[in-house]
This record gives sequence, structure tokens and C-alpha cells, in this order.
Amino acid sequence: MPTWILVVFAALAVIPSARADGIAEKATLCASCHGENGVPVDPKIPVIWGQNAGYLYVELRDFKRGARASEMMAPMVADMPRDEMMALAEYFSKKPWPNLGRKPADAATAERAQAVANSAQCSQCHLAGFLGASLVPRVSDQGFDYLLATLEAFRSGARANNVWMTDLMKAYSDEDMKALATYLAGL
Ligand code: HEC
Ligand code: HEC
Repeated sequence: MPTWILVVFAALAVIPSARADGIAEKATLCASCHGENGVPVDPKIPVIWGQNAGYLYVELRDFKRGARASEMMAPMVADMPRDEMMALAEYFSKKPWPNLGRKPADAATAERAQAVANSAQCSQCHLAGFLGASLVPRVSDQGFDYLLATLEAFRSGARANNVWMTDLMKAYSDEDMKALATYLAGL
């Protein structure tokens, strides 16, 4: 076999890993906020390690479109092509969900949250254990501050990328939302 063919083969063999390295490199930028080990550097920043890939992709797309407004995330995705968003979504979904070491909600809070969850049928979409699947996010063991902020943002319409969540949250009080966020963060 002529040597040039061997050289081409060798080059082809490195392409997939080079691409993977490229994504890992991009991901280091994300780590400055979402955490080196998956634990976000600020409680208002969500966990993305181990989150469902379909959901991660949809959020990146919505930040880019402006359907979900975020001063921090918009510049991250402004020039990001679709295949890179998909690769990042895939990459982070394969990481293990970090151990945030949170305690379960107390009995009274859990009871209130479960009453809300039952009336709203959260588990119809978020499934058992609030682990979600595909385009529906895992919300169990997500950070309390982030959960509360994002539920409030749905209710006020500040987070406008899911009409269903907005309509649903309008039915609930601040206390209900606090109970939900406390309960979910401790699951
Ligand atoms: C400067 C800090 C910062 C950096 C860097 C950053 N993020 Fe974020 N990210 C945030 C904040 C803050 C939010 C929450 C936005 C909101 O809800 O207002 C967020 C939200 C997200 C979400 C939505 C998660 C959910 O549960 O809804 C995804 C997905 C995400 N970021 C992915 C990434 C990726 C991929 C990168 C790297 C390309 C990245 N982020 C870099 C701060 C950052
Ligand atoms: C009809 C299906 C459905 C029901 C019922 C539902 N959700 Fe959701 N929820 C979704 C989808 C889909 C998203 C993702 C929206 C998006 O694309 O940003 C979401 C997003 C969320 C988020 C944001 C997660 C994140 O990482 O930013 C939270 C928190 C949440 N839901 C909690 C709840 C709770 C609590 C209930 C019950 C009170 C509930 N949901 C009921 C479908 C549903």
C-alpha cells in the first residue's frame, strides 16, 4: 500500500477524537459557571451534568433564539452552530449528576409540595422521581435557588419558552413555589 494512503488513514482515524477534544475544550468555558465537577459555582446557576440531552439542546437553542432570555447564556450561544449545541448537550448529558449533598424537605413542606405536584400532575411529564426524559428536564436534586427563580420566571412570563409551564405556575402562590423548590431540591 502506498504510504500516502496510510497517512490519509491515520489522519481519518484522528478526526473523531479531535472533534471530541474540541467539545471538551468548549466545555471548559461552561465549567467556569456550571462547575469543574458539575457543581455550579453559584446557587442561581443550574446543574447541567447528567441533565437530559434533548432538554439541554432545546435550552441552548432557545437562549440563542432569545425565546429564553439570559444575559449570561445569550453570549455563549450567539454564534454557536446547531451541531455544536447538540454535541455539548450530548457531552454534558453523559456526565454524572453531581452530589450536591442536600437534605430532604421536612415533612410539612414535602406534604404541601406533593399536594401541589398531585394537583398539577407534574409527574405526567417529569415522570417518576422527577427525572424527566428527552425534552423534559430532570428537576429532582436541582439547586433550590435556581428552581425557585425559574419557577417564578415561568409564572411572570420572564421565562417565555414554555407556555404550559407558565400557565401551570399561574395557579400557585409564592408559598407553594417555595415548597416545590425545597422539595425538589431535596429529592
Ligand atoms: C457566565 C456564566 C455561565 C457560563 C460561562 C455558561 N453558563 Fe449556562 N447558565 C448560566 C446561568 C446563570 C443559567 C441560568 C439562566 C437563567 O435561567 O436565567 C444557565 C443556564 C444554562 C442551561 C439551562 C439549564 C436548565 O436547567 O434549564 C444550559 C443548558 C446551559 N446553561 C448550558 C451551558 C453551556 C453548554 C455552556 C458553555 C458553552 C454554558 N452554559 C456556559 C451561566 C453560565
Ligand atoms: C405537560 C407537561 C408538564 C407538566 C405537567 C409539568 N411540567 Fe415542568 N416542564 C415541562 C417541560 C417540557 C419543561 C421544559 C421547558 C423548556 O423547554 O424550557 C419543564 C420545565 C420545568 C422546570 C425548569 C427546569 C429547569 O432546569 O430549568 C421546572 C423546575 C419544572 N418544569 C417543574 C415542574 C413542576 C414542579 C410541575 C408540577 C407543579 C411541572 N413542572 C409540571 C413539562 C411539564
